[in-house]
Amino acid sequence: MKKILLPNGLNVSAFALGAMNFGTTTSKEEAYRTLDTYMDLGGNFIDTSNNYAHWAGTGDESETLLGEWFSERGCRDKVVLATKVGFDRHGKGAGLRAEQIEYWIDESLRKLKTDYIDLYYAHTDDINTPIEETMEAFHRLVKKGKVRTLGSSNFDTWRLAEANMLAELKSLTPYTVMQQRLSYLNPKFEVGPKYAFNEIVNRERLRFLCDKNMPLVSYACLCKGAYENPALLPDEYTGGERLDFIRSMAAEKGVNPSALVIAWLANLDRCEGYPTVIPLFSATPEQLRDNARGIELSLSDEELALLNSK
Ligand SMILES: NC(=O)c1ccc[n+]([C@@H]2O[C@H](COP(=O)([O-])OP(=O)(O)OC[C@H]3O[C@@H](n4cnc5c(N)ncnc54)[C@H](OP(=O)(O)O)[C@@H]3O)[C@@H](O)[C@H]2O)c1
Repeated sequence: MKKILLPNGLNVSAFALGAMNFGTTTSKEEAYRTLDTYMDLGGNFIDTSNNYAHWAGTGDESETLLGEWFSERGCRDKVVLATKVGFDRHGKGAGLRAEQIEYWIDESLRKLKTDYIDLYYAHTDDINTPIEETMEAFHRLVKKGKVRTLGSSNFDTWRLAEANMLAELKSLTPYTVMQQRLSYLNPKFEVGPKYAFNEIVNRERLRFLCDKNMPLVSYACLCKGAYENPALLPDEYTGGERLDFIRSMAAEKGVNPSALVIAWLANLDRCEGYPTVIPLFSATPEQLRDNARGIELSLSDEELALLNSK
């Protein structure tokens, strides 16, 4: 699979695998099959969190399962591993205070059976903690070698800009990747995000990322399977012409609709004002094989313009 060398030095596959449900709603056997399939396809960019999936368990399951898989397969060094800190776990863990970051990194390293994280995300903003305290705590992890690079997820753009400005002034490690929701379908502006700051990406955010040469990891980009089954369309998205169009173009090109969504996202940086986008999604092994075809699919300038025009 195509690899992308990010400006922060990480060399990642063109799409990332979401491990959110591993060990809870996805059994260990199925998760291992999915992980092995992803590696067979040439993938290397795996996404988890210190709280996945606490709504269906304790929040330790995904990292614990990945740690077991790394040690059974001996493949930790072949993976660019991303995990996160800062979201709630049964009323515990929300926040980006120094003591929380220091506690949760060691928990993540223990569960993941590794001594470093390639990309450590602030999972969501914490407006009650001074930015300086958070950035200094993250920087200490980088200095200690526990973390290679930093990312942010579910931050307002201006808060990310402030954090990175402060990091620059104080010679601290900046955030170099943004993880935020983006899919092909248009959001309904009247429907707010379910959690604070987990907005769907808009044009202003894309221009910011493009200007800063910061890649976007677009999470939940398959709208939970709605491209294959429109009845699954999440409330916050509009179906309409875009959904019909992408489904019919996918049929013409001989791929499943999710594969074409992935192709569109992965080609967006060819359009003016768009950053590098790395689609991030969950899938079964069979869905993964179908969806991966999107990365190899060639899209002409005319097809890209047509998709954008809807
Ligand atoms: N930063 C954050 O705050 C945040 C939040 C949410 C998620 N994430 C990350 O993003 C990842 C993906 O999120 P997500 O699972 O919520 O959303 P998603 O990727 O949009 O949806 C994934 C679901 O779509 C369905 N699907 C995938 N390929 C398909 C295909 N070819 N045909 C039919 N259905 C298909 C599958 O559902 P079925 O299993 O039902 O078929 C799959 O579980 C997570 O694992 C996590 O790593 C991050």
